[in-house]
Amino acid sequence: MVEYAPYPDATQPAVNSERYFRTSQLAPSQPFVEAPVTLSEITGPLFPREGVSPDEADLTGGGKALGQLMILAGQVRDEDARPLPGVLVEAWQANASGKYRHPVDGRDAPLDPNFVGGGRAVTDSEGRYRFLTIKPGAYPVPNSGNWWRPPHIHLSIYGYAFMSRMITQMYFPGDPLNEIDSIFMSVPDAGARSRLVAVPDTSVGLHEHALGYGFDIVLRGRDQTPMEDGGPAA
Ligand SMILES: [Fe+2]
Repeated sequence: MVEYAPYPDATQPAVNSERYFRTSQLAPSQPFVEAPVTLSEITGPLFPREGVSPDEADLTGGGKALGQLMILAGQVRDEDARPLPGVLVEAWQANASGKYRHPVDGRDAPLDPNFVGGGRAVTDSEGRYRFLTIKPGAYPVPNSGNWWRPPHIHLSIYGYAFMSRMITQMYFPGDPLNEIDSIFMSVPDAGARSRLVAVPDTSVGLHEHALGYGFDIVLRGRDQTPMEDGGPAA
């Protein structure tokens, strides 16, 4: 039997992060109450994986969206580095101008009619997912004193049951905005932050067409990808 290795606290964002002003207004002041998981949470409702079309992993309208075309691909693993097949991975992001296709984004920046804004994919038998998208632009956070979020892609990972969902954000290597971003920096441990940064990967890219980035996701244990469950959200 493999011993479960929990993560150290500094590798996950704090619920109330000093650097991210909104968390002081939103974070619970009382400790979490752990609800026991019963059979109904574990057994259903389940997502019909067969209802996810491969086309939904293309956010670019067939490559027509403006911006730097890129492939985002990676493997989802558990705490023992076992690949997890059949996991639903959802991605959403701003377009190349840093504008979300969402009514809450009221900024005066152009929408791209060819950019879908979000997509989803189911991991294959080796736990791998893959999206065709564009590199998102940075965007300013309203009422924040000119804080701009670095380019990032939001990712949600659903387990086999509706109750098991984890959410994280992927960042780009070398972006100077990363280290002044209140959400990225809300993870205290530098090694853990590095697990939020994608790696350029030529084996993932499409020749003379799309840049490739690799981003593996670990759901539990010491190597866990920092997640937003209870911590700062975007
Ligand atoms: Fe965002």
